[in-house]
Amino acid sequence: MSSLLQFLRSTVFTKIVMAITGLLIIGFLIGHMLGNLLMFAGPEKINAYALGLKNLGPLLWLVRFAMIAAFGLHIWSSIELASRNKLARPVQYDTKKSLKSTFASRTMLVSGLAILFFVIYHLLHYTFGIIQPNTYYAGGYRMESTGEIVHHVYNMVVAGFQNPFIALSYIIALIFMSSHVSHATSSAFQTLGVMNPNIKKITSKIGPALAGLFLVGYLSIPIGVMIGVIKKAPDQKHVSTMTKDCPDTADCKCE
Ligand code: HEM
Repeated sequence: MSSLLQFLRSTVFTKIVMAITGLLIIGFLIGHMLGNLLMFAGPEKINAYALGLKNLGPLLWLVRFAMIAAFGLHIWSSIELASRNKLARPVQYDTKKSLKSTFASRTMLVSGLAILFFVIYHLLHYTFGIIQPNTYYAGGYRMESTGEIVHHVYNMVVAGFQNPFIALSYIIALIFMSSHVSHATSSAFQTLGVMNPNIKKITSKIGPALAGLFLVGYLSIPIGVMIGVIKKAPDQKHVSTMTKDCPDTADCKCE
């Protein structure tokens, strides 16, 4: 029992928590990026995807709780490891640049903090509609397939990135995120015991490869909006005919 407690308090356990939660977050990032790329397929596809997620009901909440726990434990383990490092080495080295260190590895704390601020800002923007509420509540979308009126996620994202300051803030945050992922992924595999030099040769390339994929996949959306490849969807007539505020009449056009 005491050896289990000892293990739970050990640096090795904290590093394993950091590695597993980091890989879970990367799993979410891959799924979220693939979903977001539906912006290129037009409003019908991305709005149906967003509706599909909402309709998952309890399963969606299960994933949300798992992600909140993963983010929370990831932040806890980073604080824990940083403070243990400091205690173990109260006097810092004169020069911090080790031969093998990279820009990404030296800036993990800064890029991690940037991601934390970004996620809070992003949730306030697209999930809660507190930043740019006019675009969040800018009207519904009538599904061509079912006639159902749903949240116009497509136009909300386009309107968001049509603001150059918002687009730029996303671009900067996404560069930080990719830099973090680049170092973190390889480091997570090392923590989880990938010691065989042949496998290590491959895993050390997964981080930079994922970082590149995230840069291209995520950045393509704000840049796509800025250069006009992704455009606001045309207004739909009678989009709110199902609400009592907008009866179904020929001249009714609610947005
Ligand atoms: C161009 C980049 C991105 C775009 C266009 C984007 C778009 C969106 C949209 C539209 C939503 C709301 C979905 C809805 O309510 O139907 C959302 C939610 C979310 N995004 Fe992003 N996102 C981007 C990047 C990121 C990144 C890099 C992260 C993490 C570091 C992230 C984390 C989240 C989280 C945690 C949610 C909440 C999910 C939920 O409500 O269950 N997003 N995103």
